[in-house]
Amino acid sequence: MALFPEQRPRRLRSSSALRDLVAETRLHPRQLVAPLFVREGIDEPQPITSLPGVVQHTRASLRAEVRELADLGVGAVILFGIPSTKDSIGTQAFDPEGIVQAALNDVRADVGERMVVMADLCVDEYTDHGHCGILDGRGSVDNDRTLAVYAKIAIAQARAGAHVVAPSGMMDGQVGAIRQALDGEGFTDTAILAYSAKYASGLYGPFREAVDCTIVGGGDRKGYQQDWRNGSREALLEVHADLDQGADMVMVKPALAYLDVIAAVRAAVDVPVAAYHVSGEYSMIKAAAANGWIDHDVVATEHLTAIRRAGADIILTYLARWYAEQYAQA
Ligand code: PBG
Repeated sequence: MALFPEQRPRRLRSSSALRDLVAETRLHPRQLVAPLFVREGIDEPQPITSLPGVVQHTRASLRAEVRELADLGVGAVILFGIPSTKDSIGTQAFDPEGIVQAALNDVRADVGERMVVMADLCVDEYTDHGHCGILDGRGSVDNDRTLAVYAKIAIAQARAGAHVVAPSGMMDGQVGAIRQALDGEGFTDTAILAYSAKYASGLYGPFREAVDCTIVGGGDRKGYQQDWRNGSREALLEVHADLDQGADMVMVKPALAYLDVIAAVRAAVDVPVAAYHVSGEYSMIKAAAANGWIDHDVVATEHLTAIRRAGADIILTYLARWYAEQYAQA
């Protein structure tokens, strides 16, 4: 007779079939969003050194990639553009002929309603100073002038075919300004995925290489993105502000160092919660695996599952294609 016959948790761990049966957390490729980069004026896809396996796409290679992702059952893509000319206000972000607008048109023509097509809505890839907003005379970001530019971008992206626009600049009032602009032009069905709790993280480093973005004067984004010393109290303030302004979905970013925030947001709201497994989180797995220090597939699955377990309904991740391929084979 065992000492504690009623407590034998190992029983349900004894076979892979049993573990699968009782697993609390499942992750389906439909819940994943693949971030993709499209660059103006290149003839061949360009590798990104710090993001192994991710490229800056040409318009043609982007189309092919999105079709393949749709065939693999990935839920959505989110597009980031790299224009060939940048200026102080990020004009290419709202030019109807701009690279992302062209790519949105291409992709919607190819995949239609088979998958969700999202556009990141910000200016940092399009400004010559690298900030997520318009600068005032003293070199800091002018919140309200930036909102006017975001409104124009939202309309351009919706007109080009984005199902969802995702404002990532962390300006106060950005969701309301975008909702009002979209509704004013009749785009009442275009949804908003708000980057609500976005931290001024060091983990965006490889992304900045991916979009050729350098912040002028060695600056940072601490004047608009959240301080990582602040947890769910400030995050929920941001989330509720975005919901009051009409956000359809909210996001926490990055993911793994902020699982506490994901869990708190999931518990506090009734809309879908997304988490962004960002460039640096991906690169750390790739680099350690390339050294033979960790097993890529095990750690990648463990990390994505943990983000889902914390409460994310949707995960933006550069691992989307890999995960969907694995899932199809399993
Ligand atoms: C801003 C934006 C950034 C990321 C997504 N949208 C960069 C930043 O805030 O500095 C980072 C994504 C990643 O690191 O994978 N447009």
